[in-house]
Amino acid sequence: MGDLITMDDLSNEEIIQILDDANILLPVARGEIYLPLLEGKVLGNLFFENSTRTRMSFETAMKRLGGEVLNLSSIGSSVAKGETLYDTMQMVDGYSDIAVIRHPNQGAAQYSADAVDIPILNAGDGAGNHPTQTMLDLFTIRESHGSLEGLNVMMVGDLRYGRTTHSLSHALVRFGAKLTLVSPKSLKMPSEIVSDLKNHGGEINETEDMASSIDSADVIYMTRIQKERFPDEEEYTKVAGIYKLNANDIEGAKSDMIVMHPLPRVNELHASVDSTKHAKYFQQAFNGVPTRMALLCRGLGVKVPRKVK
Ligand code: CP
Repeated sequence: MGDLITMDDLSNEEIIQILDDANILLPVARGEIYLPLLEGKVLGNLFFENSTRTRMSFETAMKRLGGEVLNLSSIGSSVAKGETLYDTMQMVDGYSDIAVIRHPNQGAAQYSADAVDIPILNAGDGAGNHPTQTMLDLFTIRESHGSLEGLNVMMVGDLRYGRTTHSLSHALVRFGAKLTLVSPKSLKMPSEIVSDLKNHGGEINETEDMASSIDSADVIYMTRIQKERFPDEEEYTKVAGIYKLNANDIEGAKSDMIVMHPLPRVNELHASVDSTKHAKYFQQAFNGVPTRMALLCRGLGVKVPRKVK
C-alpha cells in the first residue's frame, strides 16, 4: 500500500501533498526542530549498488524524525555468500517497518515489494526508475519556479540508462512540461518511454544539439553518462564527455533558469557553473532529506502535521 516503485504509484494530487509535507518538514530536515514522528520505527536501507546521496539522505531523514536505520550492502552482508534477494527480503521484513532498496537489476524493487509485507521504496533499479529522486527533483523545481505547470525542461546526456530522467520525464509531462531530450543517438530515451510521454500529452523534442535550447529553458537537467551500465568500454568511450556545460554556455539563459543534476557529476557539468545563480544541484541534493521524510511518513501511514514548531 505504501510502496513507491514508479511514479505511476502516485497521483498528481498525492505528489503535491508529499511536496507540501516536505515543505513543512524543512526545519526538521535542517535540524532546527526535532520532531519524532517516526520514533519506534525502523528503516531497512538496502544498497546493492553504490550511493552517497540517496543512502545518506534516507538515513538522515529517518533519524531526524526519531526513527532507527539498519544498513545493508552487498559487501559485508550474506549477499556476498550468495544469499538470494528473496531470502534477504524475508529477513528485512522481520527486522524493519519499511525498506529502501537500490539494486542493479531493473524490476528488483517491484520483485522485493511482491516478496514482503512492509512498504518498499525504490531507490533506483538498474536503468529503470528512481522515483524518490524524482520527488526531490520536483520539490527543487517547485521551490525555484513556484509551480510545476508548463515548464520548458531540457534533459541532457545519458537518457538511455539514466533512470532519474525516466522517472522525472514521466512526472513532468503529467504537469504539462515541454521536454527537450538532448543525447547522442546511442543514448536516446528508450522509445517505449517516449511513447508513454506522448500518450500523457507530452510535447517532446529529441535532438543531439544542446546549445540551441538553452536560452528558452526553465530547467536544464544534466546527467552523467552511466559508464557502469555499458556492455563494453569501447561503446562508453565513444560518448564519454560528449556534453559539457560551463558558465559561458548559460550566459544568455533566462534569469530564473535552474541547472540541476542528480549527481555525481563527472565532466558534463563544469565547476564554473557552481558560482552562478542558476546552480541548484547542491540544494537539490539537500532536498532529498525533507522529501524523503515525507515519503517515509507516507509509507508508514504517519500524517505530517500542517505546522511544525
Ligand atoms: N542522485 C543519486 O541517486 O545519487 P547517489 O547515487 O549518490 O545516491
